[in-house]
Amino acid sequence: MLGPMTDVLTVHGGTPLMGRVAVRGAKNLVSKAMVAAVLGDGVSRLRDVPEIDDVRIVSGLLHLHGVDVVPGDAPGELVLDPRNVDRAHVADIDAHAGSSRIPILFCGPLLHRIGEAFIPDLGGCRIGERPIDFHLEMLRKFGATVEKRPEGLRLHASQRLRGTRLELPYPSVGTTEQVLLTAVRAQGVTELRNAAIEPEILDLIAVLQKMGAIISVDTDRVIRIEGVDRLGGYTHRAIPDRMEAASWACAALATRGEVYVEHARQQDLMTFLNVFRKIGGAFEVDDSGIRFWREGDAPGSVVLETDVHPGFMTDWQQPVVVALTQTSGLSILHETVYENRLGFTHALNEMGATIQLYRECLGGLPCRFGRRNFTHSAVISGPTKLHGADITVPDLRGGFSYLIAALAAEGTSRVHGVELIYRGYERFLSKLDALGASYEKETTAA
Ligand code: EPU
Repeated sequence: MLGPMTDVLTVHGGTPLMGRVAVRGAKNLVSKAMVAAVLGDGVSRLRDVPEIDDVRIVSGLLHLHGVDVVPGDAPGELVLDPRNVDRAHVADIDAHAGSSRIPILFCGPLLHRIGEAFIPDLGGCRIGERPIDFHLEMLRKFGATVEKRPEGLRLHASQRLRGTRLELPYPSVGTTEQVLLTAVRAQGVTELRNAAIEPEILDLIAVLQKMGAIISVDTDRVIRIEGVDRLGGYTHRAIPDRMEAASWACAALATRGEVYVEHARQQDLMTFLNVFRKIGGAFEVDDSGIRFWREGDAPGSVVLETDVHPGFMTDWQQPVVVALTQTSGLSILHETVYENRLGFTHALNEMGATIQLYRECLGGLPCRFGRRNFTHSAVISGPTKLHGADITVPDLRGGFSYLIAALAAEGTSRVHGVELIYRGYERFLSKLDALGASYEKETTAA
């Protein structure tokens, strides 16, 4: 019998990426909007859904819970019918969930629909501990009981969940979504302080409002939700993926190419675009997208701190670090969202980059990781010539960043474990073809 297989790309670097790619709905909205459909008593239609593994995982989980998920008439449309939501077998949930963090967001909707939920061991990228303590604390405050069992967590609600006053210790994206998906059908009003306000969260709020929810967002990170008795279905076009758009922009800069990203939206990328310009990138916005290229050889150093929105988002950090190895100057990076998101730089150094890591906070933002032995700051000195190497994809964004490095490097690289990138980058091999990249793919035993 065949064991697990892995995809290896042999990349011949040194060719500027030139051409046009299109991004579709944001991975980090689409999966949540799919879960939101469980709250409705009617059919929902989600548009611009990308063909990525995360969508397949959530479709599988929904299916196990009795939600019918089928393609709609338009390309990229999913039709979700939650009218027969039911319990699922624990072993089946476990088999579907191992590679995603989305199962935790099923709690609120399932507690409302069937009074219980089971959460297996969560997957997702290994970029830090990624605990779920905030999620569980919030769910308990709504009135759910949480029982830890060897096979996972079992949540139970003996009566309708109740709205409550909540405050997050840190503006966590997932926990804000958890509160939204739970509060919309809870009894009474919920107030969430110190909420995350990422564009994907505002788009999820738009989805919930279409379903009948009453939600207001203040400018001071306070979200108020007035619970309602029932919600219907929605029809919604997902916001475009700003992480993927930024990844292609960095690929254009690092390879000295020019890439037009169709559907990239300036308002979701404001903070990224400022940094892109400071590090020697150029861009032009029109009605359908953004064109990215590199502006000559001007010095491109920057002092950068990742932060929650509207700050510089952590998912942009890894591709930008690769771009910084190709621009001239000394740049400083302080990662304040995840304690362990700089490990991917070791392989870049093996390819010829000069990146030094520090445990100290090299920045002024209040950070949870200083003095706690986490290597979460970096100094990147560029430009450095990268050469081909054998590298293994560590996580989703790190993996795409390795591809950028391999494309910018002189010579041939072998990038192992490329299947991790399928989780969040739709048909990226066809997009590389469209941009003139030179590579071969093989599937081998892992
Ligand atoms: N945190 C806790 N306890 C919790 C929840 C979070 O300590 O209960 C901490 C985390 O450990 C982390 C910080 O809070 O240090 C922020 O985590 P957050 O909850 O905001 O992240 P998430 O919801 O798990 C989403 C995205 C990530 C993205 C972050 C930050 C999805 C599926 N994932 O994760 O995206 O980096 O928000 O913007 O939406 C990616 O797309 O590659 C990715 C990792």
